[in-house]
Amino acid sequence: MNRKWWHGKVAYQVYPKSFCDSNGDGIGDLKGIISKLDYLKDLGVDIIWLSPCYVSPLADQGYDIADYYNIDPRFGTMADMETLIAEAKKRDIGILMDLVVNHCSDEHEWFKKACADPDGRCGKFFYIEKRRPDGSLPCNWRSCFGGPVWDKLPGHDDLYYLHTFHKKQPDLNWENPELREEVYKMMNWWLDKGLAGFRIDAIINIKKVLPFKDYPADRSDGLSSTASMLKEQTGIGAFLGEMRDRTFKPHNSFSVGEVFDEKPEEIPEFIGDNGYFSSMFDFSETVFGRSPLGSYADSGITPDDYKRCVFQTQWQIGDIGMISNIIENHDESRGVSRYIPEGDVTPTSKKMLAALYFLLKGLPWIYQGQEIGMENISFDSIDEVDDISTIDSYRVARAAGLSEKEALRAVEKSSRDNARTPFQWDGSENAGFTTGKPWLRVNPNYTEINLADQKDDPDSVFNFYRQLTRLRKNPDYQETLTYGRLVPYLEDRHNVMAYLRQSESQSILVMGNFQKEPQILPLPSVPKKILLNNLHDLKLDSENVTLDGYQVIVAEL
Ligand code: NOJ
Ligand code: CA
Repeated sequence: MNRKWWHGKVAYQVYPKSFCDSNGDGIGDLKGIISKLDYLKDLGVDIIWLSPCYVSPLADQGYDIADYYNIDPRFGTMADMETLIAEAKKRDIGILMDLVVNHCSDEHEWFKKACADPDGRCGKFFYIEKRRPDGSLPCNWRSCFGGPVWDKLPGHDDLYYLHTFHKKQPDLNWENPELREEVYKMMNWWLDKGLAGFRIDAIINIKKVLPFKDYPADRSDGLSSTASMLKEQTGIGAFLGEMRDRTFKPHNSFSVGEVFDEKPEEIPEFIGDNGYFSSMFDFSETVFGRSPLGSYADSGITPDDYKRCVFQTQWQIGDIGMISNIIENHDESRGVSRYIPEGDVTPTSKKMLAALYFLLKGLPWIYQGQEIGMENISFDSIDEVDDISTIDSYRVARAAGLSEKEALRAVEKSSRDNARTPFQWDGSENAGFTTGKPWLRVNPNYTEINLADQKDDPDSVFNFYRQLTRLRKNPDYQETLTYGRLVPYLEDRHNVMAYLRQSESQSILVMGNFQKEPQILPLPSVPKKILLNNLHDLKLDSENVTLDGYQVIVAEL
């Protein structure tokens, strides 16, 4: 693997709407983020990805962009954005923006022009079709947020436009070179402003299997998830290679793709030395147990499943490139609520999960609030939910026969709003997030889980994350923790997750007891030094270590 400037860094995702509100309107903003840069620096963050803050009607919380060249006034101004980039740079932190170019907003001027003149230049930026001769829609794909992907083109009774997500997110037609030029121009404009790079949204969706055709229906609505089409898709590499060569490469910038369902043989093309992207997220544990019927039918994930998913990815990636490791993001439930068995979520188990994923090979990412151990929220009614995806999942669950209460309980587990509740800064009203009314309910557990309480407590989850970032950057261990291979250890041992990170000169053991019951575990060799331990005690002899419930240790061997 060729060495790159961003290897060995720690990355952090900010969801601007819920991070810090500087002006009391209940919505987080860029000034709020600027005010927390020192906090993030102290945590050990080098790269910050901002979820979208461009002009947007916020139908999908900014993933529906109406103007790629301006900041939404709810988040601030372009001057604030420039200040944020400059202030971050002073602290040696790079800013990534979210690149959302599978679709734009139906309020983007391109779409408005397309409606006015479907045969004109902008009409060709979208997929606009007539019904088929038998009167049916051009194909039977289901939108990710429910219903067919086709909606009537406003102002035209006989024309339909494609949206693989919400109807306010019309898909852009990547087959059109003029559209691609517009995208590259916009990306370079931002990179020239000093962005460190982009996180790239829904990128696998940009290539459609054409001409449009039906796939076997996978639910009683007669529609087919776009996943079936994407499985058949080929040729996306031409677009992605062009994008890399025209934008990322000349800027030596960082890019991380939201890539689902990659085929193992494609990994070198995606994140190898000359890959389309610098990195891509590992979603193997995210998607584990997802049901094609809808999120109400999802199964959970056990510690052994989690371990298998993670190791499988690590094995597949090997030394090809750097995967990006997460336990949560703005589209998921909180990692501690998902991966730690119900009833066992404590500061100790949160720290164990933190160490296990953070020291994997790859780039570690922290999603805002994860570093203080924020947990899922519970809703009293579907009316409290803002997320369009959860609202659709609830509708699907009700249609499948679940009662209101059952449907709510079933879909709240994986609701995206779990991760979108405001950051819990302190124990004051609204968790110190805003002086106004927060746009989304604050998790009532903020009086117990908040940064102010954890900041000076050496045993807090927050300070454990600080230790993790420091360990990754400690010159004595950085080489091994960045480039060293990962070798699973005691792989078949039920509810134990352990691995070695090995370089030519060093071996580091990471070992977690993913259950309540203590375990006596053999050591590969006598540790030279214990680098981290989430509990105060450690029962160790020359051959074995006894780990208490959810204890994790990191040891130099
Ligand atoms: C993935 C984003 O992370 C998610 O929040 C969004 O709804 C979809 N892509 C569509 O842009
Ligand atoms: Ca605000």
